Amino acid sequence: MQLSSIAPSDTPLSNIALRDRLIVALDLPDVAAAETMIGRLGDSVTFYKIGYQLAYAGGLPLIRQLADAGKKVFIDLKLHDIGNTVARGTESIAKHGATFLTVHAYPQTMKAAVDASAGSGLKILAVTVLTSYDDSDLQEAGYRHSVPDLVAARARQAQELGVDGIVCSPEETTALRGIIAPRMCLVTPGVRPAGTNLGDQKRIMTPARAIAAGSDYLVVGRPITEAADPKAVAEVIVADIKTALA
Ligand code: C5P
Repeated sequence: MQLSSIAPSDTPLSNIALRDRLIVALDLPDVAAAETMIGRLGDSVTFYKIGYQLAYAGGLPLIRQLADAGKKVFIDLKLHDIGNTVARGTESIAKHGATFLTVHAYPQTMKAAVDASAGSGLKILAVTVLTSYDDSDLQEAGYRHSVPDLVAARARQAQELGVDGIVCSPEETTALRGIIAPRMCLVTPGVRPAGTNLGDQKRIMTPARAIAAGSDYLVVGRPITEAADPKAVAEVIVADIKTALA
């Protein structure tokens, strides 16, 4: 799979390769466990997410390894710092060959990451409001906005600043599709195939419903990585996405 199958940032996203729409979260304790999982998933998965757990357990070199093997990697480190630090960090991540990087949706942070990623293959995704926050959590943190208002305001800022996409809960997808330009992608965790364990996710959707609601990419972790047959679950999800797109 070539990087060129990621839609250029000025066009709608209908040409994303089917299999790339499933991003498997490698929330695993070490590189050996991740490599075993990648081996078991084989050709069924083309896009992986590396987050805090694996990145801080020596997982960053996996980005280059996966990229060299023709896979794409989403680095979910949710950067937020002074602009210069975000910019330099973004440049380092781009050199590893990652495809997506998350930053918190603060204007200075988004601008620094967008500017620093220019000309590289790295796309910047903004996290508007963490899905574990409700209105009272925002108030406690000193915000006057409700969650939907702050999500919408930050999504608009992300668009103005040239961010490539938004990470959002399945429930926010429809509203965000009405706010942001078609060139921006929506990346959605909290997806559960019908009949699987919810884990600690509360606001979930099936893959088909999430795609129908306007998500471009689905992030799925434990329903795949904890399955007896991870590859079979990945194939079911890809088939579900295909049905929803048709
Ligand atoms: O195992 P599960 O499918 O719940 O994994 C979902 C992945 O998406 C995890 O890596 C989690 O950190 C991430 N995520 C999320 N909710 C968000 C943002 C990211 O579940 N709002």
